[in-house]
Parts: sequence; structure tokens; C-alpha cells
Amino acid sequence: MPLIRVYPTPEALARAAAEHFVGLAAESIRARGRFAAALAGGSTPAGTYRRLAAPEFARRVDWKRVHIFWGDERAVPPDHPESNYRMASETLLRHVPIPQENIHRIPAERPPAEAALACEAELLAFFGVPLPRFDLILLGMGEDGHTASLFPHSPALGARERLVVAQYIPQLDSRRITFTLPLINAARNIVFLVQGERKARRIRRVLFGPFQAEEMPAQSVRPSEGTLLWLLDEAAAPAEHR
Ligand code: 6PG
Repeated sequence: MPLIRVYPTPEALARAAAEHFVGLAAESIRARGRFAAALAGGSTPAGTYRRLAAPEFARRVDWKRVHIFWGDERAVPPDHPESNYRMASETLLRHVPIPQENIHRIPAERPPAEAALACEAELLAFFGVPLPRFDLILLGMGEDGHTASLFPHSPALGARERLVVAQYIPQLDSRRITFTLPLINAARNIVFLVQGERKARRIRRVLFGPFQAEEMPAQSVRPSEGTLLWLLDEAAAPAEHR
């Protein structure tokens, strides 16, 4: 059963998520000398990233031992308004002393299939094992129950031999590069950040409804040996958790 924590406002959620990031970073660096985290895209995490960039949190992170990856990316150049890399750079990475070589951007300006292969190669080189274990994977959830760029009924949902794949999302007319479920579920810690009443109906089904992986990919996020934590604001939370 995943752990669910609910906060009164998006600001309180962002603070809690930033605090959790700081704690996991310290724990990972103590245990393994580094903290490998994959960031979520979309709009929700921006508040958390901005909070993390504030001195109150940023000064508590040993950024030279932090390595940042992305759980998914849109197939656009890094300076494109839709780029998850650009969003994280503007809200967090430009404001903290993280070495440039520790920022492992998905080269999404390249053809998507090539970008996915390049991302896989970087993961294998960095982790040195066939199934990398992130210390933290941050995820969001769409109103349709997608997470990363694993959309309902999309081919990537079935990928078992790959770590990263590219796929076209017809409902968005968007090409994406995304971590696959085997890579996500290998993580030590997975945290969903979900806010807003638009997500409330889907959250209830994802957390308490029947298991329908093709319909609601977020349900398939079940770390094999890691922790799963849902950080929600009240607007998104099921009534009994408010
Ligand atoms: C992306 C994200 C995606 C996002 C959800 C929620 O690249 O868009 O990885 O999975 O987390 O779509 O997006 P919002 O936070 O904007 O609602």
C-alpha cells in the first residue's frame, strides 16, 4: 500500500517535496557517496524545484554529489518552451552549484529513437549495471492516469527489455522519450507529486480502484524493492485522506 501524504496547499506540497528531496539526498550521499535523481516534467514539479533552489533548502544539499536525470522528455530542443529540461533549468539547476557534468539531459533534439538509445547508454555508463537503481524518481500524473510519458494503451507500457523508449502520443500529437516501467520500478524511492482538483477523480481510481494498467499507467508504478510515496495537495486528495 503506497504511503499518501496530503498538504493543504500547493505551496505546502512543494515545501514537503523539497524537504523530502533534501533528506533522500543526504541519506543517499551518506550511504553511496552520490544521489541519482530523475526529475518529473510537466508543470506540477516547478513549485518544488523553485523551493529547492531557495537557500533554505539548496544550502542543505551537497550538489557536487547530485546527479540529475529526467524520467521523460518531449522530443524538442532544450530551449523549447515544452522542454522538461528547460523547466528544471529555469526553476532549479541554474540556481544551484551542481556541476554541469552532473546534469544528464536527454538529447531530445535528436530523432526520438536515437535520443532514447543515447539516454540508455548514458544510464548504463553511469550506473554500470543492466538495471539502474535511481535513489529517487519523481513522477507526476496526468488526468488520464499517465505518468512520465507512459500513456494509456501506449506501446511503451509493455516494454520490458528496454530502459528508455521513444513513442508517439496521438492524443497529444507529441513525440516523447520515456523511462520504462522496469527502470522506474527498480528505484529505491519513487515520489508522485500531484495537485489540483482536476486530478482528484483519477487519483481515487488509481489508488483505490481496480487494477487497470492499460487504462491508468500510474497504477503500474510499484517499486520492486523501493518506497512509493504520493504527495498530494488537498484539492487532488481523495476525501477520506484530506
Ligand atoms: C510530462 C510529464 C508528465 C506529467 C503529467 C502531469 O513530461 O508532461 O512527465 O508525466 O508529470 O502530465 O503534468 P502536470 O504536472 O503539468 O499536470
